[in-house]
Amino acid sequence: MPVIAVAHPLVRHKVGLLREADISTKKFRELTGEVARLLAYEATADFPLEKVTIQCWSGPTEVDQIAGRKITVVPILRAGLGMLDGVLDMIPNAKISVVGLARDHETLQPVHYFEKFVGQLEQRTALIVDPMLATAGSMIATIDLLKRRGCKDIRALVMVAAPEGIAALEKAHPDVRCWTAAVDSHLNEDGYIIPGLGDAGDKIFGTK
Ligand code: PRP
Ligand code: URA
Repeated sequence: MPVIAVAHPLVRHKVGLLREADISTKKFRELTGEVARLLAYEATADFPLEKVTIQCWSGPTEVDQIAGRKITVVPILRAGLGMLDGVLDMIPNAKISVVGLARDHETLQPVHYFEKFVGQLEQRTALIVDPMLATAGSMIATIDLLKRRGCKDIRALVMVAAPEGIAALEKAHPDVRCWTAAVDSHLNEDGYIIPGLGDAGDKIFGTK
């Protein structure tokens, strides 16, 4: 199932708080970070472990550690930056790749304006972060860029997904799993998710 709706009560509660129309920039940022942490927790649940022996206070002790994972977090500019620190709180050694895409307000197509990827993408797990999966054009374009550079394990974390975007993502990239904190009703005529969060980038950056 490529799109996984995270049903954890903390996630559902926090998404509800994010929907308040008069939410402050500070509160929106804080909740976005908290939801990102919880999504990162869910999206990494299948990472394999290996045993290593460490010097514990009581002597040599076998402990678990995550086996050989190289991770890059990939925020889609701008709004994806709002989720970046939350994911890094959970995976502090991850490297960061950045993709700049802005939706054309008329066509709803993503317009590419920046990219900077870390090396060895063919060996890495990529965790793409973007609060909104609307038409999924931005997500599909980002996955295309990663696959063209050889990345094979690509996962996406979003806060709110529209059914239209889920269908498009599953069709374009059936191998990519996407964890979402909420699946909403539909897109309106302007391509905004209903009920949604409004313009997530504006709310994170305080630009409206
Ligand atoms: C928003 C959002 C996603 C995209 C989702 O970004 O953060 O990147 O739209 O829409 P889609 O699924 O139809 O592509 P936007 O382009 O508004 O830019 P911003 O992050 O700079 O606000
Ligand atoms: N981008 C947003 O920020 N919100 C939406 O509802 C759709 C795209």
